[in-house]
Amino acid sequence: MLVSAKDMLRKAKAGKYAVGQFNINNLEWTKAALLTAQECNSPIILGVSEGAGKYMTGYKTVAAMVKAMIEELNITVPVALHLDHGSYEGCYKCIEAGFSSIMFDGSHYPIAENVEKTKELVAVCEQKGLSLEAEVGSIGGEEDGVVGRGECADPQECKQIADLGVTMLAAGIGNIHGKYPDNWEGLSFETLDAVQKLTGDMPLVLHGGTGIPEDMIKKAISLGVAKINVNTECQLSFAAATRKYVEEGKDLSGKGFDPRKLLAPGFEAIKATIKEKMELFGSVGKA
Ligand code: 13P
Repeated sequence: MLVSAKDMLRKAKAGKYAVGQFNINNLEWTKAALLTAQECNSPIILGVSEGAGKYMTGYKTVAAMVKAMIEELNITVPVALHLDHGSYEGCYKCIEAGFSSIMFDGSHYPIAENVEKTKELVAVCEQKGLSLEAEVGSIGGEEDGVVGRGECADPQECKQIADLGVTMLAAGIGNIHGKYPDNWEGLSFETLDAVQKLTGDMPLVLHGGTGIPEDMIKKAISLGVAKINVNTECQLSFAAATRKYVEEGKDLSGKGFDPRKLLAPGFEAIKATIKEKMELFGSVGKA
C-alpha cells in the first residue's frame, strides 16, 4: 500500500520506535525492501536519492516500478516512496512522478531561504496529501553527490522550520553519511534533546544510519527520532555477498552466471540487513 509517511511516523513517534528509510538502487533493492517489510509486518520508507533516480532512468520509472511491485507482490504494509535529499526542482519532479513523500534539503541555503522554499513545499504537499521532510544543519560526508559539512543544527532554526508544518525534520546532530571515521565523536544528544524540546511532537529523522552503535540508536529513538535512514550498509552487505559468490567461483560453474543466480546472494544479504535494522528500530509488527 503506497501511502504518505505521515501516519506511520506519527505512530512511531508516539510509540517510541523508528521507521527505517532504506535507499533503493534497482529492482533487486526494491524487491528486497518490500518483501522484508511484508515479512516483518513493518512500515517502510523507500528512499530515492537524485543520483539513484537518474540511475534508474528517472523518477517516473521508479514510481511505476514501486507501484507495480506493491501490487504484484501483494504488499499490504504501509510503504512510502520518498525523495532523499531533494533539490527544489527535484521535489517538483517527484511530486509529478507520483512519489508519496519528499525531502527538501534546503540546509545549504541561508535559513531565510530554506524557510521560504520549505514553506512553499509544505503548501503543495498538503494539497496533494504527501509528506514532507525538511533539513536544518547538515549531515556530514557525502550522499550521492550531496556533500555536507556536518555541523549540528541550531535548535531555534529547527523550531522555525518545524512550525511551518513539515511532516518530519532532519536535524544534523553529528551524524555522517557513509562509514563513520575512527575519530568520530558520536551523536550530539545534547543537540537532539534541545531540538526535541523545541519541536514537541515532530518526528525527527536520523540520517547516516550505517554504523551507528546500537545504544546510540536506542538513545536517539528515546529522544524523539522516529525515522532512521540506511543506505551504505545495504550496499556493503550486497557487495560482500556478491564478492563471496564470485570468489568461490560460483559464477563459473553451471549456469551460475545467470543474473538471477549471480545477484541472489546480494539480494538475500540486503534482506537480512533490513530485517536486522527493523528489529533494532522496533518497527517489526507495527504495520
Ligand atoms: P548511510 O548511507 O550512512 O546509511 O546514510 C543514509 C542516509 O542518510 C540517506 O539519506
